[in-house]
Amino acid sequence: MEPPVIELSHVRKMYRGRVEALRGISLQVPKGCVFGLLGPNGAGKSTLVKILTTIIRATECRGIMLGHPVGHKPTLKRVGYLPEHVRFPEYLTGAQVIDFSAGLAGVSPRRLKVRKGELLERVKMSEWQRRKVSTYSKGMKQRIGIAQALVNDPEVVFLDEPTDGVDPEGRRDIRNLVRELRDEGRTVFINTHLLTELEQVADRVGILSKGRLVREGTLEELTAAQRQYELRTQGPIPPGLAERLRAGGATTGGNTVTIDAQGPEPMQPVIDLLRSEEIMIRSMHEKRLSLEELFLEAVQDGPGDGEGGAR
Ligand SMILES: Nc1ncnc2c1ncn2[C@@H]1O[C@H](COP(=O)(O)OP(=O)(O)O)[C@@H](O)[C@H]1O
Ligand SMILES: [Mg+2]
Repeated sequence: MEPPVIELSHVRKMYRGRVEALRGISLQVPKGCVFGLLGPNGAGKSTLVKILTTIIRATECRGIMLGHPVGHKPTLKRVGYLPEHVRFPEYLTGAQVIDFSAGLAGVSPRRLKVRKGELLERVKMSEWQRRKVSTYSKGMKQRIGIAQALVNDPEVVFLDEPTDGVDPEGRRDIRNLVRELRDEGRTVFINTHLLTELEQVADRVGILSKGRLVREGTLEELTAAQRQYELRTQGPIPPGLAERLRAGGATTGGNTVTIDAQGPEPMQPVIDLLRSEEIMIRSMHEKRLSLEELFLEAVQDGPGDGEGGAR
């Protein structure tokens, strides 16, 4: 198996003024995945990404990215970055923003010539490339921001709150682009406080709360633990029958029966019972704890300011 692209252990960051933004983060990000770091504002997401992109230094950090210790500047040639709340100079055009970051990244003019057109096309900004940033909507600024993050053909791309202030269509475009980047073999690291952004696109999710990683795993792993089956009937379930179902461990609503189960088997006797009473069944489906429910639970019962490691 290929080594992880990012491997961190016990990363801590204490800002001046004694804000402990990260309290011992250990994390592995496999190659070619979309990793979503989810957490409320102030959890420490941007701090972690700034450490990985060498913008700030950790108070304590044992970590490797792309085979080099975290903080190794030359590694940044292989990394793309869209900062949070990025503001490009308003007097530049979109195309000039890309030129500028190509310059910073040391992309040769020849390579840039080919790449720029592709990138602008990719983020659907070709038509707007000669307009000034001052005329762009928030969504357009983010599109240009993503294009500039890809200018050096990076192996790892950090997107810090990429959909912040972007309309639904723009968010969908960003999701599709993220999937494409992953399919090209790149590793995409997304910071967000918006769960819905990750649910559809992340392969792995880490939940950060008060500087600690309180959950980490594939969406499947994180949400499989609490699986339910819900059955809906055409009309209301008669009270006597509902009582029998509850006695058997089910939860009943007006026309729903829900049971906690890892597979559909335990629902079969329920179906038999309902059918024997000639109740019409309309649907049955598997319900998982949504990422949102999981997130709220993790952030609520996550470790507070006391001692305690990542689980
Ligand atoms: N430059 C700084 N100086 C002092 N405290 C900071 C600085 N930057 C961030 N913080 C604090 O560190 C914590 C984590 O912030 P941040 O990493 O931006 O969180 P997130 O990106 O999850 O919203 C917050 O309490 C924030 O106020
Ligand atoms: Mg942030």
